[in-house]
Amino acid sequence: MEVASQNSSKPVPVENQILVVGDALIDHQYWIDRMPRAGEDSVILSFLKNVGGSAANTAIALAFLGVPTKFYGTIGRDPDGVLIVDQMQAVGVDISGIQWGEVTGFTITMIDQTSERTMFSFRGASSNALSIDSPLLKSTKSSRVLLTSGYQLLYPDQAQVVLSIAERVKAEGNLVALDPSPLIGDVPEEIRSRMLGITDILLPNRHEIAVLTGEEDLSTALEKARHLSKCVAVKLGSRGAWMAIQEGFQFADGQRVSSDLCFQAPAKQVQAVDTTGAGDAFNAGFLASFLRDETPENWLRSGNNLAGEVVQHRGAVSLFCSPSQTSAK
Ligand SMILES: Nc1ncnc2c1ncn2[C@@H]1O[C@H](COP(=O)(O)OP(=O)(O)OP(=O)(O)O)[C@@H](O)[C@H]1O
Ligand SMILES: [Mg+2]
Repeated sequence: MEVASQNSSKPVPVENQILVVGDALIDHQYWIDRMPRAGEDSVILSFLKNVGGSAANTAIALAFLGVPTKFYGTIGRDPDGVLIVDQMQAVGVDISGIQWGEVTGFTITMIDQTSERTMFSFRGASSNALSIDSPLLKSTKSSRVLLTSGYQLLYPDQAQVVLSIAERVKAEGNLVALDPSPLIGDVPEEIRSRMLGITDILLPNRHEIAVLTGEEDLSTALEKARHLSKCVAVKLGSRGAWMAIQEGFQFADGQRVSSDLCFQAPAKQVQAVDTTGAGDAFNAGFLASFLRDETPENWLRSGNNLAGEVVQHRGAVSLFCSPSQTSAK
């Protein structure tokens, strides 16, 4: 596949493992004509079921790109949990850190003819706080980057665990990457600022930088976003992505940036059919390139490239593993 060959030209050193901590859910996507009013009966035109959850999507894409990837999250002891394990294993995600809860979480997304998405989520086992066992402690040492998301900061117990994992990663001299996620505005201020204080690579979208900076105007928000962490890469949908790096930011090989840098890269010119998981794919392409010690311009290019492939397919991870159930479209 074109994506694989483009991204696997330079191998990721084994010591550049990535530890992904977060949600593994099941995505149920339903394509409909229009959202019904309450009480109406309406027809589903087509559907798709597969692994979802921001962290799981990114872990699957990273493993697909050949990055040594370890996933930590909680899923249910049920058929959906088995599906998640099977799909992750099929692409080579190290699932030895998965912990087990009661019911696997899921998301139901209704997509109308205008591509408007209406979502309902049940986080299930993925809202459980992870127990910090000795393999997890070892992973904080053996992983060059920890990637987690704002979803992990919503509940106090879970947030405390994720913060202590992130602090441990930092203490080991490794890096913390954070996708703030759309609900970052709901994270208590004290937890949010503690997490941002230890984040090296921040991966927000347009809406999330507005929340984090308090600025609706894009150029003002980007200007302020430069100070949110040492490396901030902002996803701008069909406009591509923008990145600012501060002097002193550490590359994957340990070298430090000697002056402030700023980059912009256009999105791939494609016909998007479903943007679910676009941000997660961007994160994977970006971090894979970072871990390959490529140039910063390439981190953005690689993020846009992979996300640009994903938006041409229905489902967040269909490009990397076939949907477990789908209807003909
Ligand atoms: N219409 C599009 N055409 C080409 N590329 C796109 C399009 N929409 C999104 N992308 C790519 O996907 C990346 C992420 O998209 P976006 O900015 O929507 O992130 P997001 O809102 O975090 O996504 P998600 O809904 O998955 O969380 C963009 O930076 C771009 O590279
Ligand atoms: Mg996103």
